[in-house]
Amino acid sequence: MAERGHGFTVMSEQSSAGRRFSLRLPGRTCEPITLWDNPVLRTTTAPVTVFDKNIRRLVDQLFETMYAIETGVGLAATQIGRTERVFVFDCHDGVVGHVINPVVEPLGSEVLPGWEGCLSLPGVSAETSRLNRCRVTGQDADGNDIAYDGEGLRARCFQHELDHLNGVLYIDHQPDGVRTQLEQEMRDSEWYGNLSLDPHTALYKRSQAGEET
Ligand code: NI
Repeated sequence: MAERGHGFTVMSEQSSAGRRFSLRLPGRTCEPITLWDNPVLRTTTAPVTVFDKNIRRLVDQLFETMYAIETGVGLAATQIGRTERVFVFDCHDGVVGHVINPVVEPLGSEVLPGWEGCLSLPGVSAETSRLNRCRVTGQDADGNDIAYDGEGLRARCFQHELDHLNGVLYIDHQPDGVRTQLEQEMRDSEWYGNLSLDPHTALYKRSQAGEET
């Protein structure tokens, strides 16, 4: 997920925990981000049953790639072309995490609209209704049971990333007219035609820069 608009806070001291995690392994790499129209974004991902160095490596790559993009607050495995049920998040609120085999449950029934963007759909965003509070449960890279509560942006992020692992994009939640318009804007984008892009490329950065308006 990508954060939009004003009020974007500077990385907190605690949120650098994610960076430290991502620095554990040698040979780390930032992976290309898969883009809209890439079939992997429509994949229903597979539960993780083996918690080994490959899963730790995947978590590491997700953090490394998310942190390569200034607006990134969450990233799911399909966004780097993988099909395991894993996502990472850092909404710059002091809580950084990764969740494997996530399950999201509502905390209350309040649903709020809010602007939402996605690192795989650069240059567009749309108001999307989500539960204001929710809890995500799952496992960490060592297979331990974990849970995070979220409210506001973090709750939105959990729901957005879980959607990714089910092959769902936030544009799917829009009314038909809005979705059609967003899809047309993407087809008209400079990046369209690429199934993935390295976040460090000028083309991807330009696409991101366009979102700030
Ligand atoms: Ni996304």
